[in-house]
Amino acid sequence: MSSTVLNPDTIRADFPLLGRTVRGGKSLVYLDSGATAQKPQQVIDAESGFYSQTNAAVHRGAHQIAEEATEAYETARETVAGFLGADTDEIVWTKNATEALNLVAYGFLNASLAAAAGPASPAFEAVSAQARSRFALTPGDEIVVSEAEHHANLVPWQQLAAKTGATLRWISVTAEGRLDPESFSVIGERTRVVAITHASNVTGAITDVPALVARARAVGAYVVLDACQTAAHMPVDFHGLDVDFAAFSAHKMVGPTGVGALYGRAELLQDLPPFLTGGSMVEVVTMESTSFMPPPQRFEAGTQMVAQVVGFRAAVEYLDALGMDQVAAHEQQMTELLLEGIASVPGVRVLGPADATDRLAVVAFEVDGVHPHDVGQVLDDAGIAVRVGHHCAQPIHRRLGVHASARASAGVYTTAADVEAFIQGLHEVRRFFTPSEVAGGRAPRGVSS
Ligand code: ALA
Repeated sequence: MSSTVLNPDTIRADFPLLGRTVRGGKSLVYLDSGATAQKPQQVIDAESGFYSQTNAAVHRGAHQIAEEATEAYETARETVAGFLGADTDEIVWTKNATEALNLVAYGFLNASLAAAAGPASPAFEAVSAQARSRFALTPGDEIVVSEAEHHANLVPWQQLAAKTGATLRWISVTAEGRLDPESFSVIGERTRVVAITHASNVTGAITDVPALVARARAVGAYVVLDACQTAAHMPVDFHGLDVDFAAFSAHKMVGPTGVGALYGRAELLQDLPPFLTGGSMVEVVTMESTSFMPPPQRFEAGTQMVAQVVGFRAAVEYLDALGMDQVAAHEQQMTELLLEGIASVPGVRVLGPADATDRLAVVAFEVDGVHPHDVGQVLDDAGIAVRVGHHCAQPIHRRLGVHASARASAGVYTTAADVEAFIQGLHEVRRFFTPSEVAGGRAPRGVSS
């Protein structure tokens, strides 16, 4: 094995949870970073420090603490924007990536409702003519997703199609688990939105975003990128990728839960109607009507998750200090080790590309004849944490011929020793479930032999 470019052993010292034991004193092997990443002390301190020194509501107080809280909130926006190749006013805080994707879909829906109601309708007077012409969908318009989407980037578009009469179409996935370039042709003259994952949370396959953007631009469609699985694992530059909107969550980026963000090209956010309405996003409110603030405040109704935003800043500063090229190189090594190791265990099939090219260290697999929950349970008995189930992505499981799978996913703190323990765990799963051993030996918790 070649030496790693990052030293995950040093990095691990920053992550207190990784030092704990599980299942009767076993060292924790955490391979579930695709679901949520662990947090470095720097993030925990930033959040706790905010509460002990700076806690106040933002953009609404005249006192010193409110000023400091507002400063912390807006500085975090600048830091996160810079980390992902965006301008500061192109980042909208949301509670997670799911909310960010809903924000865009509901923006389209509200423009569609306004257009259908007509220019004289007082109910939609705050939705500009420009917003209606840009974002309103009508029957015959098409929204394109892929079979690889997790539900957060599928269900909101299904709902938007159902409510507007637009048609949902999709790019198919090959047997290897990559988006099929042949089916990019589904993007056509009627396509208004292309909403695509940057990398599958099941197969780990990285999408050829430039090819999709070129195709979408040729027909005048907007591109929405789901960057949930990539933002913490490789350099991501929204301007460089030339996408119109993008969503990501802090908790997958070694940051806190409860905060995510939407990236939107400034001139599009300028026109997009709001999703959530209420305090802090308004200019003038009368009993009859309301005018809205410019973005990003237009999309940040109510008291905000300021401590989490401050923690998010600490998280991207942490990743930035490691260097995203280094992070990507390290995780490429983990991908190779995972794939090589799994290939050495008989009866285990990877759902996704078998080689590490254009692929993240998110590796779903099935063990012949063993239910994924039983796989997870035997691994858990050895202190190894993986995800089991459909990973909020039922269609791609169906496409790959299974209902569910187990999934190992790495992060900046994953070591070769973690991967080795996991591979040994897979051998144990195989031993455990060979009929002779099950008949004569112990059964896992809740599993009848
Ligand atoms: N994105 C979540 C996961 O992959 C659903 O675990």
